[in-house]
Amino acid sequence: MYSYARTRSGAIGAIVLVSALALAALILSGTAASAEKPAKDASENVSTSTLGDAPVLNIGHRGASGYAPEHTFASYDLAIQMGADYIEQDLQMTADGVLVVMHDKTLNRTANPLEGEPTRNCRGLVSKKTLDQLRSCEVGSWFNEAYPQYANPDYVGLQIPTLEEVFQRYGKSVNYYIETKNPKAAPGMEEELLRLMDKYGLTRPAAENWQVLIQSFSSESLQKIHDLNESLPLIQLYWAGSSKAIQRDLDNASEYAVGIGPYKKDVDAALVSAAHDRCLAVHPYTVNETAEMESLIDLGVDGMFTNFPDRLDALLGDEAAGGKSGAVKASNASDACQAGL
Ligand code: G3P
Ligand code: CA
Repeated sequence: MYSYARTRSGAIGAIVLVSALALAALILSGTAASAEKPAKDASENVSTSTLGDAPVLNIGHRGASGYAPEHTFASYDLAIQMGADYIEQDLQMTADGVLVVMHDKTLNRTANPLEGEPTRNCRGLVSKKTLDQLRSCEVGSWFNEAYPQYANPDYVGLQIPTLEEVFQRYGKSVNYYIETKNPKAAPGMEEELLRLMDKYGLTRPAAENWQVLIQSFSSESLQKIHDLNESLPLIQLYWAGSSKAIQRDLDNASEYAVGIGPYKKDVDAALVSAAHDRCLAVHPYTVNETAEMESLIDLGVDGMFTNFPDRLDALLGDEAAGGKSGAVKASNASDACQAGL
C-alpha cells in the first residue's frame, strides 16, 4: 500500500544520509586544507604586550567621572585614591584668556548658577565668559540628578577649576593627561598651557618622565606644541573611524607624537602592532566595562582612559603601577624603543 508517511520518511532518510556524507566531505576537505595551510593566527604577526612590557596605564577620564562630577577636585581626588596613574584634564579658554578644565565648549550640560546668581553666566560658550562669570556657576548638581546612585550633597556647589588651580592643588604629586580642546577657537591655548607647566615646574618632568602627557584631536595643535618644545610627549587622538584609517596616519603621527588615543572599537591587533612598530603607545578611550578592559589588554594596549579607575586597578591587580611609577616606566619603554629603531 502506498504510504505517504513511508515515502516521506524514506525521502527524509535519503536527505539525512546525503547531508551527512556532504558534511563529512566538508570536514575532511577542511582538515586537509588546514593540514596544507594552517589558518593564520592573529597573534602571529602582532605584539600582544605593552611597549617594553611597561605597566598598563590607568587614566582617570575627567577624574573618576563615573562616580563624581567630571573635572572637579572631587573627581580627581577620587581617581587618585582609586589607583589612576593619570588624571585627565580637558581644556577650554575663557574670554579673558584663562585655561579652565571643562569637557564641553558650552556650559549648558554641566553648569548651573550658584544660589542668587544669574543663569545667563552659566549658559553658552565658555569662550564668551570671563573667569569671574564662571565663578558664579557650580558643576555638581547635574551629576546628582543624572546619577542618583552616586549622588552626594557635597557635590552641589563645586566650582570649575582653572588649570592653574589644578597644578596648585596636586603639584608634582600626580601625573596629568591634558587635552587641548577646540584649540582653533582659543588662540594662545598652547602657549598658555606651556607657560603654566613652566611656572609649576612640570616641563622637565613631562619631557623626562611623562609626568604630563598632552593630547589632542587636532594635529595642528600638537604640531604647534612640538614646534614650541619638541621634547614634550604628545598623544594624537583619533575620532571613531577604523583601524586601517588610523594605521594610514601613523607615520605622520610618529613625527611628533609618542602615542595615539584611538576610539576603543577601532583597536585591533594590527593597529597595536603597527603603532608599536613605530614606538607609539596606544591609549584607547573610554573604556568602562571590565570585559572590554580585558580584551584591550589582551590586544597589547599600553593604557586606557576610564571613568572607573577602580575597575581597571582591580583587573590589573599586582600588575598595576604604584604612584607615579607607571608614567616613568612607560616613558623609559618609549625611549628604549626609540633607541632601537
Ligand atoms: O581624551 C580622550 C578622550 O577623553 C576623548 O574624548 O570627548 O571625552 O574628550 P572626550
Ligand atoms: Ca578628553
